[in-house]
Amino acid sequence: VEPTAPPQTLRECTLEALARYIKDGRAQKIVVMTGAGISTSAGIPDFRSPETGLYANLARLNLPYPEAVFDIDFFKKNPEPFYALAQELYPGKFRPTITHSFLYLLHQKGLLLKLFTQNIDCLEREAGVPGDKIIEAHGSFAKQGCVECKKPYPQERMRDAIEKKWVPYCLDLSCNGLVKPGIVFFGEQLPAEFFENNSLPAQADLCIVMGTSLQVHPFASLPQMCERETPRLLINSEKVGDMGGRPDDVLVLEDCDSGVRKLAEACGWLEELEALWATT
Ligand code: APR
Repeated sequence: VEPTAPPQTLRECTLEALARYIKDGRAQKIVVMTGAGISTSAGIPDFRSPETGLYANLARLNLPYPEAVFDIDFFKKNPEPFYALAQELYPGKFRPTITHSFLYLLHQKGLLLKLFTQNIDCLEREAGVPGDKIIEAHGSFAKQGCVECKKPYPQERMRDAIEKKWVPYCLDLSCNGLVKPGIVFFGEQLPAEFFENNSLPAQADLCIVMGTSLQVHPFASLPQMCERETPRLLINSEKVGDMGGRPDDVLVLEDCDSGVRKLAEACGWLEELEALWATT
């Protein structure tokens, strides 16, 4: 017997139908999953876009392959390439985008259950989203420590090292291990809070995926953890992951900032959103 498709939650898979679903108050627990694509308009390159992505612009670092710059085993042998790049990635120089402000607006309206981000630029926090609403799945530059003895390393000294592009070493001279920021390298475990919260997509009544290629697991499997009848919205330049494969998936295949403006307008929130962003 053919498995019966779950009843459609949205009458049609359009932004307008999704906006009605939100305005009818049927989206009270929204989970959002974001990647580097929401920060490109802030001036931070993403990783995999053909010309502009970070991985297409690392030739000067003589890496065996682009992702090596974030590989823990490569880093332990050759920390220089990462520290040559870290200065460009270090938070503090960039302004949040209107997409970041939209995340804050969802929180202000009491609709944001949890934001899972892969980004290390801290722009979600700078846009106003409270820390307890954010899961920084790939860590952040907020902390740093020794890769050998795990002893924490002072923030000021790390800032200095990054500014001057020199490689910081553990302050415990008996250890003298390499110091690394708390961003998750390939080959490292994601933070415990990712696994403690990855049951939340199954509790959500709306899932929004923005600015990610959904190429890196386990983060990339989050959208699939939503219930079948939970509408899922993708705002992204290109179709990614299994998005579009479910009856209530809505695809907005365009720039995040313009997709977010369209959704806000359909919800009657555009003025509020623009005003919020103008103060960021
Ligand atoms: N608007 C909409 N989509 C965009 C925009 C934009 N302005 N800019 C880029 N994109 C899309 C790209 O088309 C791509 O699908 O966002 C996605 C970015 O994908 P990646 O560059 O792979 O970035 P991300 O998904 O965050 O990478 C995941 O890979 O290297 C690791 O740890 C790193 O967290 C990172 C992870």
